Amino acid sequence: MASQFVRSNTRKIIILGLIWILVMIVLSYCGCDVYNSSLKHDDHESSSDHVLLPLKEYKNYLENENSTDKKILCYYSIPQNGSSETPLTAKDIDSTLCTHIIISKAKIENTTIVPVDEGDFKVYAEVVAMKKQNPDLYVLLSLATGFSSLVQDRIAVAVFAYNAHKFLTTHGFDGLDLDWEFPAWPPGKKNPKEKTWFTYLLLQLNNALKLASHPPLLLTVAVGASQSIIDNSYEIDQLAKCVDFVSVMGYNYHMYKPYLPFTGHNSPLSNSSNEKGFFSTMNIHWDTIYLIMKGVPKEKLIIGIPTFGHTWRLLENDQYSVGAPAVAEGILGGKLTYLEACIFVKEGATRYFDNESKVPYAVRDRDWVSYDDNISIIDKVQWVLDAGVAGVMTWNLNSDDWAGLCNGQKFELHAVIKNMLMQKLLES
Ligand SMILES: *[C@@H]1O[C@H](CO)[C@@H](O)[C@H](O)[C@H]1NC(C)=O
Ligand SMILES: *[C@@H]1O[C@H](CO)[C@@H](O)[C@H](O)[C@H]1NC(C)=O
Ligand SMILES: *[C@@H]1O[C@H](CO)[C@@H](O)[C@H](O)[C@H]1NC(C)=O
Ligand SMILES: *[C@@H]1O[C@H](CO)[C@@H](O)[C@H](O)[C@H]1NC(C)=O
Ligand SMILES: *[C@@H]1O[C@H](CO)[C@@H](O)[C@H](O)[C@H]1NC(C)=O
Ligand SMILES: *[C@@H]1O[C@H](CO)[C@@H](O)[C@H](O)[C@H]1NC(C)=O
Repeated sequence: MASQFVRSNTRKIIILGLIWILVMIVLSYCGCDVYNSSLKHDDHESSSDHVLLPLKEYKNYLENENSTDKKILCYYSIPQNGSSETPLTAKDIDSTLCTHIIISKAKIENTTIVPVDEGDFKVYAEVVAMKKQNPDLYVLLSLATGFSSLVQDRIAVAVFAYNAHKFLTTHGFDGLDLDWEFPAWPPGKKNPKEKTWFTYLLLQLNNALKLASHPPLLLTVAVGASQSIIDNSYEIDQLAKCVDFVSVMGYNYHMYKPYLPFTGHNSPLSNSSNEKGFFSTMNIHWDTIYLIMKGVPKEKLIIGIPTFGHTWRLLENDQYSVGAPAVAEGILGGKLTYLEACIFVKEGATRYFDNESKVPYAVRDRDWVSYDDNISIIDKVQWVLDAGVAGVMTWNLNSDDWAGLCNGQKFELHAVIKNMLMQKLLES
């Protein structure tokens, strides 16, 4: 009796699920904007839109409001077992530091979301519990692997969207973040169709997580910087219609490569006078304007800024300018956290500041380090305010000096961001 009841109920659920998936597939042919006409952005052709707001306007705005209403999306990487440093745990994170915390990372397997490790469920619960201290906090889960095999099958994508909704609501998440690095990339090695398949995945997720969900969940996507990735990997204007926020990863512009053996900035804000052609496009300013021109509405565009840096080993210790010849990755395997860079300077490296690119670099003997500090973060956040985009994303909470070991200020870089974007809110 009982098992028959369970069986017939299971059948009913499966049939309902299938009907739902079919409806979603039919709906998805209509596109994201059909349902949400407010998302139309037919004004993106007027080029005056790309001009940054004068500083004065932003100040007036601040005076009228208690907060700038900017978003602060912070990635939190689940600590791996066996790492030597003290891992950042959820209880070390101030729940008012960010408007959104994005947990990185989970994966896609067999049309569902799967944690990287069984222990991750505990971390999900701990971060979601931070909403008790700060009810305005959103907690999202970021997917980083498993895209290529999923997206080639349209039915699987629809099933996945359904399963993703269930997974997210079961664990108390407010939304989903996609961090596919990168669709159809590198060209020649990946299927070029992944570009349109990715749009289809976002369409299905928009249906399942937003249109068919009460309350709607958030959907965000992280996109690679540089024109070649943007052009090759994304139907960016379509994609922007399906999501709440598009975060551009404004870092990894330069790192040591045997075919590019020169120092450079991890995260230059602007171009400098010694950069020509292609190289003058490798910065946050250029990419932001490009994304807006290609159809990402400013109110959805989030600028990703790093709390980490890159390192180089110089060829000669008396040639240490930006663009100086290098022979290898430098200290700490080529990459370092803000804390490590801060200590490098404290222990005697010389800090220089590039006035044009608006970022520091530090040099000691043949060691060369590109990073961001409290000064370059101020410049970036101010630029975000002037540009009138939606806010900032950070990669990540873990690599900030979260314990205040270098300058005595916990989460030193995130605190700068919070103070600039939530200033009025704090005062009130
Ligand atoms: C996914 O499917 C494969 C093949 O059916 C199976 O071996 C694997 O265990 C499944 N993984 C999960 C997480 O269900
Ligand atoms: C890491 O440690 C946690 C807690 O001890 C445990 O639940 C988890 O399974 C471990 N993961 C790995 C990959 O060993
Ligand atoms: C940055 O590039 C723009 C456009 O190519 C150019 O007009 C400007 O002078 C450059 N900035 C610097 C500091 O060279
Ligand atoms: C950089 O800017 C600062 C402040 O505007 C100025 O004092 C300094 O001379 C400039 N340095 C260079 C190398 O242009
Ligand atoms: C930046 O940090 C340094 C080191 O702690 C500090 O001396 C300086 O006052 C800070 N500057 C700003 C503008 O916060
Ligand atoms: C802004 O702050 C003031 C003073 O704390 C308060 O009276 C007012 O209601 C706030 N306005 C908004 C929109 O929250």
